Amino acid sequence: MRYFQFKENELLCEDVPLPELVEEYGTPLYVYSRNQVIENYKSIDSAFGAMDHAVCYALKANSNLHILKLLAEEGAGADVVSAGELFLALKAGFTPEKIAFAGVGKREDEIEYALTQRVFSLNAESHQELQLISRVALRLNTTARVSLRINPDIDPQSHPYITTGLHSNKFGIDSAKAIDAFRYALSLPALEVIGLHTHIGSQITKTEPFIETARFVVQFLEKLRETGVRISHIDFGGGFGVQYSNAVRHEAIPVEDHGSTPTPSPAEFVGSFLPILQQTGCSVWLEPGRSIVADAGILVTKVLYTKENGSKKFVVTDAGMTDLLRPSLYNAHHQIVPLKIETYESEKVDVVGPICETGDFLARDRSLTKVKPNDGLAVLTAGAYGFVNTSHYNARPRPAEILVNGERVRVIRQRETFEDLV
Ligand code: LLP
Repeated sequence: MRYFQFKENELLCEDVPLPELVEEYGTPLYVYSRNQVIENYKSIDSAFGAMDHAVCYALKANSNLHILKLLAEEGAGADVVSAGELFLALKAGFTPEKIAFAGVGKREDEIEYALTQRVFSLNAESHQELQLISRVALRLNTTARVSLRINPDIDPQSHPYITTGLHSNKFGIDSAKAIDAFRYALSLPALEVIGLHTHIGSQITKTEPFIETARFVVQFLEKLRETGVRISHIDFGGGFGVQYSNAVRHEAIPVEDHGSTPTPSPAEFVGSFLPILQQTGCSVWLEPGRSIVADAGILVTKVLYTKENGSKKFVVTDAGMTDLLRPSLYNAHHQIVPLKIETYESEKVDVVGPICETGDFLARDRSLTKVKPNDGLAVLTAGAYGFVNTSHYNARPRPAEILVNGERVRVIRQRETFEDLV
């Protein structure tokens, strides 16, 4: 989080003090750093050197059009999983030759849209989907480029809800049946079988699962070649983990003790598996989402009340699970810090939202700098899977989104009003 730091006792996004943004735009508020997004993208892209590759940003992590435009302008590709995401990617200016359309349940109209827009590859996940893509391509009198997503049965050692490459998960084609699936795809009309796709999970914090997957890919391609099938493209998915604890430091802020082993940087992740994939001579695409936007965004909220029930202390904020779902859904940890340091005292609290659900919390049993009503708080590393998972539950309008570039501030999504609830 290079671009969110304390200057003296105030938290800044780039050169803008966050308390000023609260004053102007209110809370809850998503704030993003333009330069952090771009730096994150570049650090992954440059790890490839001169190799034939594309870094296809996974729109699902954050699909604000203005963030997408930043990445399209940098030359990134896009990984989309719905017709809506494809629409946004095209609107933002991503070139179709650098768009992969993934997803386990594509509808016929979505396949038709992707084919008419000439995306680079549809990543297919089953025999029935291959059949449907072939039928639609025939009807449109075109050829569909497809890659087959293989489920390698590798454990990414992350949260069970975001594990995708195990045979017990719904994703991909069972590795034991994958050679047959390639043969089947080649037997269908109007398909050009170009590649292999893997994506084993998200928030992966070690390089080993990627190395294991890369070895699997190399061995699989050898077997495929022995059967006479040659492909030229590997889509290696996304999944690089980011550091959620101790994202920002200040001597008044309690040091967090979990996640003490540092997460590898995106360049370290790429460096761990790229030499293995290079042996194949294929072009390599990645689909990172979180590692490009997570530490480029925060959720700003205001303390409404503090209270005690029995021995438990609560800080009630104006943001809750409708604004940031990750703590409730995955018990995910986001560091929370005050926007202004006014005391060096801290206490153990639950930071909870205003939603009528016991599972509505931003942090539990957390050592937090002592706060009082009206204090501003920043929920850090919230740029990925934050705003995209907001909801209208309890009839709450969605927050505004702000993009900061140096001293410049731009509203990239207006705060919703009651009319948006109708
Ligand atoms: N490619 C595919 C096919 C995916 O399914 C995903 C994420 C990505 C790429 C991007 O993965 P990333 O680089 O962001 O890890 N809502 C959860 C994360 C769900 C990830 C789903 N798939 C969370 O908040 O942690």
